[in-house]
Amino acid sequence: MLDSGAGVWISGEFFRMEEGMSTLPILRLGTVKDVARFREHLRSLGLTIPCDNELANGADSPLRAPIERGGIKIGNRIAVQPMEGWDGTADGRPSEHTFERWRKFGRSGGKLIWGGEAVAVSHDGRANPNQLVIGEHTKKDLAALRKTLMEEHVRTTGSDDGLVIGLQLTHSGRYCRPNRHDKPEPKILYRHPILDRKLGLASDYPVLTDGEIEGILERFHTAAKIAEELGFDFVDIKHCHGYLGHEFLSAHTREGKFGGTLDNRTRFLREITHSIRVMAPRLKVGVRLSAFDIVPYKPDPAKSAGGKPGPGIPEEYAHLIPYRWGFGVDAQNPTQADLTETIQFLQLLEDLKISLVNLTAGSPYYNPHLQRPALYPPSDGYQPAEDPLISVARQMNVARELKARFPKLLFVGTGYTYLQDYLPHVAQAALRESWTDFAGMGRMILTYPELLWNVSEGRAVEHKRVCRTFSDCTTAPRKGLPSGCYPLDPLYKNSEFAEKLKAAKAKA
Ligand SMILES: Cc1cc2nc3c(=O)[nH]c(=O)nc-3n(C[C@H](O)[C@H](O)[C@H](O)COP(=O)(O)O)c2cc1C
Repeated sequence: MLDSGAGVWISGEFFRMEEGMSTLPILRLGTVKDVARFREHLRSLGLTIPCDNELANGADSPLRAPIERGGIKIGNRIAVQPMEGWDGTADGRPSEHTFERWRKFGRSGGKLIWGGEAVAVSHDGRANPNQLVIGEHTKKDLAALRKTLMEEHVRTTGSDDGLVIGLQLTHSGRYCRPNRHDKPEPKILYRHPILDRKLGLASDYPVLTDGEIEGILERFHTAAKIAEELGFDFVDIKHCHGYLGHEFLSAHTREGKFGGTLDNRTRFLREITHSIRVMAPRLKVGVRLSAFDIVPYKPDPAKSAGGKPGPGIPEEYAHLIPYRWGFGVDAQNPTQADLTETIQFLQLLEDLKISLVNLTAGSPYYNPHLQRPALYPPSDGYQPAEDPLISVARQMNVARELKARFPKLLFVGTGYTYLQDYLPHVAQAALRESWTDFAGMGRMILTYPELLWNVSEGRAVEHKRVCRTFSDCTTAPRKGLPSGCYPLDPLYKNSEFAEKLKAAKAKA
């Protein structure tokens, strides 16, 4: 990978990450009538995103090809991304809304269920008071969620052969809010010059001690043991989106055995993996990784008006060079990615015999455009910092680069929902050309879970069900409401929460 002042080169493609991209008009993809015009549009943006003209079906479809690696046999290439709903009970059990979402996961026909959703290993590690918790008291409910998903999956595909279900284990670290939606209770690993300010942390705010970290490790060990008992095939030791596992990777400035060198920053992962191998030997390990990052973004104040945020621009960082508070970031030019340590991390995964890797980027809290490309911003976001197709292309090209370097690992690609009606054409081509091993669906699952399965059965795309990235699934939880597709899913559209969401948005 070569770096340039205003962007990043990945496998010969140039991806700009600079201010002012949003001044270009962004074409609404819902208005693009056919795949030929979509491809033309990609060309006009100068992006190389693989895209097939025709969709194959049945055994000819790359979406339907089984794959086997490292003792894991997965029946097709459709992956369901973890999607939490902020809808669990106060003690961390699923509600009827949670069950409904897991039915959608099953109905997708995807044979790789990556995590279901973030499940906290302890109450104080929850990202919100409605996040699921794994513990003795929630065992029965988590087993019921898994069973519900499997039943729905069999209804769609006819069998549970090759179905692999993981549980995403998390501690929310800097983003803990276990007791109240409006009361952050961050658990931080180091002082972050930008994020501490954004979170309003005083200069003497405590940093987790090594002893406290040992306690958190214990919780991961117990959680993994329970996940194995419940029949989950793997656990994802989450290393993405700014949560604790991800923060370890960027703990350059932390002293002691969990900070500084990459060896120390990966101790968290190595210790959990080791203990899983001893305590829960049947359980596989996966890692969802923010493979690259950039500095936090904010709405451009000069272009924000009347309650409408301006386009995203980087927070001031000139005084912070070399930038030592990120992972997969260029320290000299931190609006750019640098995959050097990412590659070392993947080598570690290979050495640890962890073959399931789900690649994502950045964080929904501080640079959402990088992580979940959208046309409309969530309430705490900003107008697109660039054409969201550039953000999609960036994630896809990083996945391609890493897949080429680590052909033995099984990669899930992320960020496909913004492709909308052309998600199947791109997913099929990406699989065919080995840019990824699995096409992951996140937001699309909330409105149209069967999309990829249906096209692989030869059915046409139902345009009215396609996610248009209105971001209400993110805005609702930011307002203390359950996540879901408020524009399209009748369960949310016609609910009491829809009224509350409308009122909260109007107030803002
Ligand atoms: C409402 C919502 C909930 C999410 N929950 C999780 C989660 O629990 N764990 C996780 O790793 N990512 C989570 N994500 C991120 C998605 O898995 C995915 O990375 C992101 O939406 C981009 O993929 P997409 O373009 O297919 O939506 C969530 C995203 C949204 C919008």
